[in-house]
Amino acid sequence: MRIGFVGLGVMGAPMAGHLASAGHDMVVFNRTPPKAHDWVAAHGGRVAADIADAARDSDVLILCVGNDDDVRAVVETAAPALPSGAIIVDHTTTSAKVARAMAGLLAVNGRVFLDAPVSGGEAGAKNGQLAIMIGGDTRAVERASVVIGAYAKAIRHMGGPGTGQLTKMVNQICIAGVVQGLAEAVAFSQKAGLDPNLVYEAISQGAAQSWQMDNRWATMARGEFEFGFAVDWMRKDLGLVLEEARANGARCEVTALVDQFYAEVQAMGGRRWDTSSLAARLKK
Ligand SMILES: NC(=O)c1ccc[n+]([C@@H]2O[C@H](COP(=O)([O-])OP(=O)(O)OC[C@H]3O[C@@H](n4cnc5c(N)ncnc54)[C@H](OP(=O)(O)O)[C@@H]3O)[C@@H](O)[C@H]2O)c1
Repeated sequence: MRIGFVGLGVMGAPMAGHLASAGHDMVVFNRTPPKAHDWVAAHGGRVAADIADAARDSDVLILCVGNDDDVRAVVETAAPALPSGAIIVDHTTTSAKVARAMAGLLAVNGRVFLDAPVSGGEAGAKNGQLAIMIGGDTRAVERASVVIGAYAKAIRHMGGPGTGQLTKMVNQICIAGVVQGLAEAVAFSQKAGLDPNLVYEAISQGAAQSWQMDNRWATMARGEFEFGFAVDWMRKDLGLVLEEARANGARCEVTALVDQFYAEVQAMGGRRWDTSSLAARLKK
């Protein structure tokens, strides 16, 4: 297929790489041009002159940019150039509101916008093992899944526009609470004079086990926080959660507290540290 890809950052570059390896005809664009030129040098395809050029003739236009404003800007620029029947798949984590608005904006001439945020981090993007949650039209989800399956281990259609983003918010609520619990557990182990590695061996096969424990316990204990998903991104995502919760009446008390803890990590200079840096705050 002819695929346009906008946003060749930490996540987008390896995702687009899997599509090139699958044999698709790639046209890529990035706000800062050198990333697009480097990507084409490594994977082939063509650098688009602008977003409209990436959209023109694309069967599927894939986005992995930063936030709501980026998605709105890209979709509004791409829409006039996008062919009839084309699909936009947006992997950016955004509000459900912007996802619904973009779905409405694109819904002419058989074109469809799908909100398709991902979970699995930089490692998941590189290994082609992302979990993708999608909101939007059922037939378009089926067509898009054939393409994005190149970098997914699980694809779930959650319902209409915005439901992919709502599901990603649930994912971030889970992570916030679990990571703070682990940070406290590591700090408690150390204050109690226990060896954190031995503690991990003792409890990681029981009810306390989690992905975060298996992948971040030891690095938190060593004070290493360079593992991908940045605190700045997490605060964006928790802001989306809390805004949605204010609207739907859900009580997200722990999430709101952990969001403030991340604000403290930012003030400590940890904007680009990964989410497990909640542990750094407890060492102050
Ligand atoms: N990193 C993770 O582990 C992870 C995991 C799950 C979900 N996410 C989500 O995925 C999205 C991307 O994350 P990331 O870590 O890949 O971020 P990133 O490294 O900052 O990549 C975003 C890319 O999009 C480009 N971009 C932004 N606005 C653009 C625009 N208007 N036109 C063209 N290109 C534009 C940026 O260009 P520049 O080069 O100019 O900055 C950058 O290369 C975010 O919404 C994030 O929350 C990230």
